[in-house]
Amino acid sequence: MGAGPTVAASLGAAAAVGVTLRSAAAVGVLPRLLSTVVLSAAGFAATHHFIPRLAPLLAKAGLVGKDINKKGTPAGDTPVPEALGLVAATIYLIVLCLLHGARGGGSRAVTDLEAAVRPAAVVGIELYTAALSSVTFMILLGFADDVLDLKWRYKLALPLVAALPLLVYYDGPTTIVIPRPVREALGVGRLLPLGVLYHVYMALLSIFCTNAINIYAGINGLEAGQSVIIAAFVLAHNAMNVDPTGPVDDALGLRANHLFSIDLVMPFAACTLGLLAHNWFPSAVFVGDTFCYFAGMTFAMAAILGHYSETLLLLFIPQLINFVYSLPQLVGIVPCPRHRLPRYNRETKKLEGIASHLNLVNLVLLMTGPMTEQHLCVLLLAFQVVCCTAGLLLRRFAILYIL
Ligand code: UD1
Ligand code: MG
Repeated sequence: MGAGPTVAASLGAAAAVGVTLRSAAAVGVLPRLLSTVVLSAAGFAATHHFIPRLAPLLAKAGLVGKDINKKGTPAGDTPVPEALGLVAATIYLIVLCLLHGARGGGSRAVTDLEAAVRPAAVVGIELYTAALSSVTFMILLGFADDVLDLKWRYKLALPLVAALPLLVYYDGPTTIVIPRPVREALGVGRLLPLGVLYHVYMALLSIFCTNAINIYAGINGLEAGQSVIIAAFVLAHNAMNVDPTGPVDDALGLRANHLFSIDLVMPFAACTLGLLAHNWFPSAVFVGDTFCYFAGMTFAMAAILGHYSETLLLLFIPQLINFVYSLPQLVGIVPCPRHRLPRYNRETKKLEGIASHLNLVNLVLLMTGPMTEQHLCVLLLAFQVVCCTAGLLLRRFAILYIL
């Protein structure tokens, strides 16, 4: 990974950890947070260490891909080990188990959020286990997809299957807050009970998050890079709610939910950073659908159980733009080729946008003109940072008028 992006990613991660620890110290949950930081750092080191050592095994098993954006060059003919997201995901699950064990195991590890959050209701052991089952199920199905190279219509359904453990066990709140302007206009109450529709909403969120990352892909470093950035902003959002500044209904409940989310997202960010180091241009490994689905499902689970799914969507703005722009090809109105990547120009060594490939990667290239793959990735990740910043600002100021 190049020096610039490494420094930028490390600074971003350090800033997110710093903000989180500051908030944690302010409300007396620093020891709890420190165990998450230490185990996350171990997750980063282990992922970074094991990926180059396990990549040859996946290649030997036939899990390789051609680097399409280098077509016509020696690098374009060299098979790149695929699905290394499996290593990051496995280490992530190990880290979560160790974290749970370090807190004493059983329901205590989940429910004991120190005196600072007691006696607020926190996510129970059943829901925690169900969320982890969904993430694990998703990793299994993602790896199956990498091995079997499933058709697009089956890929879409995989997250729905993986979300089943959460959907079946979920017994949390099923109400949503109606935005103030809407309830004033309609003269209705603040909370709308969604009942079974809430389960439909959770399923749709899981399908969206997983596929949104998977179809905003194909450029070295983009899948893992966008995930690290989103995770850093999720952590920033969590940190702000661990020690909320404005008036809130239930500060202790809010704190418990966001501490819970930090436990899921910080190890994820760390393991993904370890993967990104090897996936950055020129990619020594590809992350595979295993990673894209794992990332999307982790975000969906953390946001559903942390009760901030609307904020998560504000951090997915580039993915939302890419999804909406892709829709004609996703639903089959316009033919969708197997790969919708740009064209590599061997003379200029730059990527050129293809107008009939309806995704954000090509749209940006058509707007800016040809660019090297590395520059394109940095630009798309910078756009992610801008959108996530705007999303969080919007969330912070809009909430005063909406709630
Ligand atoms: C999704 C996209 C597809 C895009 C692909 C790239 C839709 C509907 N599908 O398909 O358009 O081409 O992701 O990931 O939008 N690859 C590279 N460079 C990279 C990463 C991947 O060349 O930096 C290529 C490799 O050949 C790799 C393959 O993409 O083997 C992985 O594709 P896969 O994840 O199987 O594609 P889909 O998720 O089905
Ligand atoms: Mg993919």
